[in-house]
Amino acid sequence: MSRKIILDCDPGHDDAIAMLLAHASPEIELLAVTTVGGNQTLAKVTNNAQRIATVYGMQGVPIASGCDRPLVRKPEVAPGQHGESGLDGVELPEPQPLVNQHAVDLIIDTIMSHEPGEITLVPTGPLTNIAMAVRKEPRIVERVREVVLMGGGYHVGNWSAVAEFNIKVDPEAAHIVFNEPWEVVMVGLDLTHQALATDEITAKIQKLGGPVAQFVLDLFVFFRKAYQDSQGFDFPPVHDPCTVAYLIDPSIVKTVRVPINIELRGELTVGMTVADFREPAGEGCHTKAATDLDFERFWELVIDSIDRIQKGDC
Ligand code: BDR
Ligand code: CA
Repeated sequence: MSRKIILDCDPGHDDAIAMLLAHASPEIELLAVTTVGGNQTLAKVTNNAQRIATVYGMQGVPIASGCDRPLVRKPEVAPGQHGESGLDGVELPEPQPLVNQHAVDLIIDTIMSHEPGEITLVPTGPLTNIAMAVRKEPRIVERVREVVLMGGGYHVGNWSAVAEFNIKVDPEAAHIVFNEPWEVVMVGLDLTHQALATDEITAKIQKLGGPVAQFVLDLFVFFRKAYQDSQGFDFPPVHDPCTVAYLIDPSIVKTVRVPINIELRGELTVGMTVADFREPAGEGCHTKAATDLDFERFWELVIDSIDRIQKGDC
């Protein structure tokens, strides 16, 4: 049985790879793509999502645009990682249409019209839409199977010494999401910094040939330079698809059950995801942190997805 997911994203180079895996993997049924202001303005990331959908031949999957700013704080974008367009470095075709519904309502309606336990939420941007959906229709919490999100980290930050971008941009939204009693899997930087697009990986993608392979290679060229310049990485960490890989095959991403909460008031630590590893998690602990990635299997999934799209197998 395939896993039904809603991908809530802010494309974004790595969000584009999350869309690729979600669309092309038979283990996943992608019910909707929703967008949120994050890596760039809402208008830009929504436009990117619509055009990426065309690159992958993704037709009939509803795409809806959501919140354009965090719940409380001023918007922040990440041109240093994703460029002025949010997806610099690639040529994009004509966009797929948007549905005429706010993302928050599409998320709520999709969850409420399915059986309890059927839908998994996969947020790969700031958590604004998800927090708004919870506040607007609290019953979604008991109906969602789990929330598998890219964000946070228990040892490292990238938007401050201790906070990761998606959480730091809207910590109040993250606080809501982490404090509802649903299952939350935090696929944070500790994990995603293992998902490097190395030379060996890009050579394998190159070997495939074809337009989607070329699109992914172009994404990685820009992303690599951005991560070299901004964070001193040799190769770019491709964060967001690690969430989808976990859902395709949980053995690819090792997790540990630990209590996790979001720092809202620290002078130096706002947006930190504080994970308590001291003791075995107590009963009722509903949060897990991702720790170890099966690098080979992860990239195998990405490469197989490119191949499947190019062969028209999805
Ligand atoms: C996260 O922030 C964004 O720049 C990426 O798309 C990813 O979701 C990594 O910190
Ligand atoms: Ca993202």
